[in-house]
Amino acid sequence: MEYNVKSGNPEKQRSACIVVGVFEPRKLTPAAEILDDVSDGFISNIIRRGDLEGKLGQVLLLHNVPNTLSDRVLLVGCGKERELGDSQYKRIINKTVTTLNETGSMEAVCFLSELNVKGRDSHWKVKQGVETAEDSVYSFDQLKSASNNARRPLRKITFTVPTRKDLSDGEVALKEGVCIAAGVSKAKDLANLPGNICHPSYLADEAEAFAKDHDNVEFEAIDESELEKMGMGAFLSVSKGSDQPGKLIILNYKGAGDDSKPIVLVGKGITFDTGGISLKPGLGMDEMKYDMGGAAAVFGTTKAIIEMGLKTNLVMVIAAAENMPSGRASRPGDIVTSLSGQTIEILNTDAEGRLVLCDALTYVEKFNPEVVIDVATLTGACIIALGHKAAGLMSNHNPLAHDLLNAGDQAADRAWRLPIWDDYQELLDSNFADMANIGGKSAGTITAACFLARYTKKYHWAHLDVAGVAWRSGAAKGATGKPVPLLCQYVINKAQAD
Ligand code: BES
Ligand code: MN
Ligand code: ZN
Repeated sequence: MEYNVKSGNPEKQRSACIVVGVFEPRKLTPAAEILDDVSDGFISNIIRRGDLEGKLGQVLLLHNVPNTLSDRVLLVGCGKERELGDSQYKRIINKTVTTLNETGSMEAVCFLSELNVKGRDSHWKVKQGVETAEDSVYSFDQLKSASNNARRPLRKITFTVPTRKDLSDGEVALKEGVCIAAGVSKAKDLANLPGNICHPSYLADEAEAFAKDHDNVEFEAIDESELEKMGMGAFLSVSKGSDQPGKLIILNYKGAGDDSKPIVLVGKGITFDTGGISLKPGLGMDEMKYDMGGAAAVFGTTKAIIEMGLKTNLVMVIAAAENMPSGRASRPGDIVTSLSGQTIEILNTDAEGRLVLCDALTYVEKFNPEVVIDVATLTGACIIALGHKAAGLMSNHNPLAHDLLNAGDQAADRAWRLPIWDDYQELLDSNFADMANIGGKSAGTITAACFLARYTKKYHWAHLDVAGVAWRSGAAKGATGKPVPLLCQYVINKAQAD
């Protein structure tokens, strides 16, 4: 979809549809008020008759509103004025976009970006407006033979800003929103693809094609024989069970000078997780195609940052492998040597994410990183702890953790921190190796991160467990593209601070 920003009066807009809000109970927003004045009370008349209370998400489409230049006016219920926060704003935009898409307006001017949202400025509302709109029209139908797209789909939305002097900042917000939304869509597409299509080589091809299309981006994919020579025994203990060869995929973006240390993003790219010999139960196993959601998110973020043209150095590393049971698969009890030299007793082959990640995390030392952030659908325990509302954040560096929490709050894509105190480390004790790959029943998200912490001592590191936020189950099953907005905001903030 196409997006624009503009400032102006609602009655002067020549558009297929003007979108304005109504608060509960039946209170017109300033833009609705203006339309009401020029039309001699046309809107307030209708509202008085009880057609729209203003409850959150209610809509009423009006035609031929007198003295306006547009074909339609869409009234959108915004709920109680004092309760308008992030999630209400997103619901309002979502409802607006789906309604426009279904009712034949191919273009619209939306005044909802001038609503007062608690603690948010015009920049945020435009940026979030674009992201939410794009999220609302997203569908994954590339593998269906017939698509059921709208007959007259919405093509363009213009968000308004209060005054002309807000326009230049509005343009910046628009660009950020458009790039982040494209990154989110990319992450969703990759994650929604099934394991038979999106395997490690597919991800490598995608990264290679991306590098070809963009300046200042280098691509590299390291194959199993090379990984073996390097000594990545933990990574290979997972990938060797599959007929699909594992790959370490790297995109290196040089957007700043050589003296500026890169932000390194590492993604868990298990393109399908059967559990291996510690096989998962059958019910719902299809959802383990999303076990590369972390990789999808770092890919989407990389795309967004590069297309925004941010002056920053960024390295993306994807640890891509398939976790399968076979005659070549690791057995429970096997002991392997990681790239770091530390040995690992694999007590459960279903705790494979940390095995591929630990080697990738050692590998990235070579980039002399400013910070390293890994993103992984790592533990079911994270869903128990935080549900589907926040990513689990764990870090060895308080300022980094703080920056990521802030970025998540700004981006309405939240994380919540869990501790990784040394006290937990003993849960990983093994009788036969330096450590076990599981920590037992308690604190599963934390022990997984404590495992990774043993490989990240040489730099500032944070870990985002996105098992709960990377996709939705149930009827509306599908990838969410999280935490692309959080990561993008973090990089934007960082680039601005430098
Ligand atoms: N990919 C899973 C984690 C997961 C489970 C994500 C459910 C989303 C939904 C991971 O590889 C895994 O299997 N983790 C195990 C770890 C356990 C064996 C210590 C888990 O969470 O059960
Ligand atoms: Mn697993
Ligand atoms: Zn997994």
